[in-house]
Amino acid sequence: MSGSPKLAVQFEGVSKVLAGRQILDKLSFDVREGETFVIIGYSGTGKSVTLRHMVGLMAPDEGSIRVENEEITTMSRRELEIMRRKFGVLFQSGALIAWLTLFENVELPLLEHTKMSRKKRAEIVQEKLEIVNLWQDREKYPAEISGGMKKRAGLARALALDPGIVLYDEPTSGLDPVIANEIDKLINRLKREHHMTQIVVTHDMDSAFEIGDRIGMFYKGSMIQIGTPEEIQSSTIPEVQHFITGGREGAISRRANTAVIRGVAPGMLSQRSLEAIESEAPVATAEQGYVLLSEEEAAAAALQPQEETEGPVDTAGPRNATPSLEPEETDA
Ligand SMILES: Nc1ncnc2c1ncn2[C@@H]1O[C@H](COP(=O)(O)OP(=O)(O)O)[C@@H](O)[C@H]1O
Ligand SMILES: [Mg+2]
Repeated sequence: MSGSPKLAVQFEGVSKVLAGRQILDKLSFDVREGETFVIIGYSGTGKSVTLRHMVGLMAPDEGSIRVENEEITTMSRRELEIMRRKFGVLFQSGALIAWLTLFENVELPLLEHTKMSRKKRAEIVQEKLEIVNLWQDREKYPAEISGGMKKRAGLARALALDPGIVLYDEPTSGLDPVIANEIDKLINRLKREHHMTQIVVTHDMDSAFEIGDRIGMFYKGSMIQIGTPEEIQSSTIPEVQHFITGGREGAISRRANTAVIRGVAPGMLSQRSLEAIESEAPVATAEQGYVLLSEEEAAAAALQPQEETEGPVDTAGPRNATPSLEPEETDA
């Protein structure tokens, strides 16, 4: 046995130009199995784009991306769909369905993507809700619980299909510090007790230092430093120092990202919820799984035509710029 850790995700020389700008520039980094890898960096620079590449929603212009040792850049659409099941994604406010109880919300991906018996599903729902401490609240509806609980329920749902890797795009943004801390604790518990591989994009340096085994500072298209929290904290690279000290003063805005969901991704959304979204705040429904889209991008997408095959929004129109498109907020 070699001493080197197994790798969950590998980016090697990944480059991507979007709208004439070099967003990823020979980006290389590895995420080890079982670690929490935190990505920090300024707003609008390409962190979410990096996550989209990781789940095969965007293809790089060049470079290699491997997930659990499989090259994903050459996969077919069908292969990508299957590959995506390795990932659970926690959306901004959980993306829960308003008219389903927490139990039913977590059960949904099992109903849609497996042929499990009712009894087996119930066992799994219980297990996942217990992980996030919500089993006692299983009969509640999303409107009856707090923001932090919604986030935890969203996490239980993201875990329903037993993904090996969980992605979080700004999981604590917009949360008060107490609830943000709850999420941090949960991330740490998932690592400790469930050996999950977790990849977290965040602006929140308190959170980054609390949860990160390693932190990568994304800057101008690549990682200018990857290190332990201690190494990052004592970084001699001016851009890293500037970010980690400036971040607390609000120099880095806490931008609220909006999750926009298209198609049915494992563990994410049902056909019913898509219909709900469409009726109120339409998003594209191409068979592309899901995207994480910022408000800025949504607004920009409404103004300019997107790359047909990989852009996050393909039926761009003013209505797509609706700031919040999550299902629970669509009930009239
Ligand atoms: N499909 C797209 N087409 C054109 N530009 C895009 C697309 N997706 C993202 N961008 C641009 O790429 C840049 C990085 O975006 P993003 O990864 O969302 O930043 P952040 O680091 O805040 O997550 C932004 O300028 C954004 O507008
Ligand atoms: Mg982002």
